[in-house]
Amino acid sequence: MSSVAFSADFIGELDQLLRWRRDVRHFRQESVPEPVLEDLLHRASMAPSVGLSQPWRFIRVDDVARRQAIEREFERCNRAARAELSARDAEEYARLKLNGLKDAPHHIAVFFDPEPMQGRGLGRHTMPQTVAWSVVMAIYNFWLAATARGIGVGWVSILDPAVTGRILELDPNWEMMAYLCVGYPKSPSETPELEEKNWAARHPDRSRWIYR
Ligand SMILES: Cc1cc2nc3c(=O)[nH]c(=O)nc-3n(C[C@H](O)[C@H](O)[C@H](O)COP(=O)(O)O)c2cc1C
Repeated sequence: MSSVAFSADFIGELDQLLRWRRDVRHFRQESVPEPVLEDLLHRASMAPSVGLSQPWRFIRVDDVARRQAIEREFERCNRAARAELSARDAEEYARLKLNGLKDAPHHIAVFFDPEPMQGRGLGRHTMPQTVAWSVVMAIYNFWLAATARGIGVGWVSILDPAVTGRILELDPNWEMMAYLCVGYPKSPSETPELEEKNWAARHPDRSRWIYR
């Protein structure tokens, strides 16, 4: 195929996909079939990357002891984060569910090589951060591809990257981008959970647009 055209129906469904993609923290128990999970990782790897460096590393965390260590690390970091808040915010914060680590059938840590050999440095000379941004793009590919298949993804960032890397015995030069909980969501929603719980509200899109 030399070119591809997308139908109006497809574009409508893509809009639905963007609208219904959620950060998921409540999962059903059943596992995602292995070929489907692998398919999602292939979709992630289709993301653009600076200099075609593909710096991402997806770490499947299946080992029970490591998963439990990650859960304990989340609890430690979450307590520390809460301790920094004002009394009023801390009380509200404590009521939020900020991870699905216990119930998610799959854990995928996303790390990256900050100085990948692949891509030979192209595009990074003035903006070395572009390596990390490439990894975010891969995660978003994964997130959308998962949502399209009825699979939920929850991004957990309340973890210490160095401790997480040690729990997973990763190359100490790699940096952490995300720790993802993956599985079938308990209840899909069109509204972010933090909005439902009145932690924050989405502003009108136009309020973030600037013209010069
Ligand atoms: C970089 C990043 C880090 C995040 N870390 C967390 C986290 O540690 N815990 C959590 O519950 N949600 C986390 N989220 C999810 C956001 O809270 C969520 O995207 C936001 O509330 C909007 O909701 P939505 O994704 O359902 O639209 C993170 C999202 C991003 C993009």
